[in-house]
Amino acid sequence: MDPNDLQIASLAAEIRRRLEIPVVLTGLMGAGKTRVGRLLAGALDLPFVDSDDEIEAAAGRRIADIFAEDGEPFFRDAERRVITRILGTPGPGIVATGGGAFAHPATAEIILEKALTLWLRADPALLAKRTAGDRKRPLLARGDPESLLRELAEKRYPLYARANLVIDSEDVAPNVTLMRVLEKLDDYLG
Ligand code: S3P
Repeated sequence: MDPNDLQIASLAAEIRRRLEIPVVLTGLMGAGKTRVGRLLAGALDLPFVDSDDEIEAAAGRRIADIFAEDGEPFFRDAERRVITRILGTPGPGIVATGGGAFAHPATAEIILEKALTLWLRADPALLAKRTAGDRKRPLLARGDPESLLRELAEKRYPLYARANLVIDSEDVAPNVTLMRVLEKLDDYLG
């Protein structure tokens, strides 16, 4: 086994032993919530759920279509209900949420009550690079994506700061971010 993989595996086993509640990933679009969330679930051998996928499955529509046909408030309500349902399942698991979920007061309350929240913090310039050419995210189709991401960061970063843990998501391999997440989780769980 690669020494890095071995380090990840032994840290993950330690964390898994102590983790009793779900871990929710938050952060802006492009922060790597789904990517890192899947890796984290794999390392901890826990189920992974993406709340955006669950919303699309429940609605039978794409997120962009929900926004276009019913508007953002309708989407936020669906998001709150889906996340409440996901977090109603007892025990640990990894949940990637859409970037607006933890910035929405009612949804944030549920997440704070039921889960351990991890904010993947990233520079808007990097987020713009990662989401370039994306057509699935309606909020980035309203103008220049980098400016929109900067505006969202200004509004949301103070709210994301309520998360239990903050991890910087930089321009590094996802495994490097995974390792940072595992180290922070290990420290947090004491
Ligand atoms: C949104 C982020 C998206 C999705 C929707 C709205 C937001 O999820 O929920 O387009 O408000 O930031 P990702 O953060 O996974 O892209």
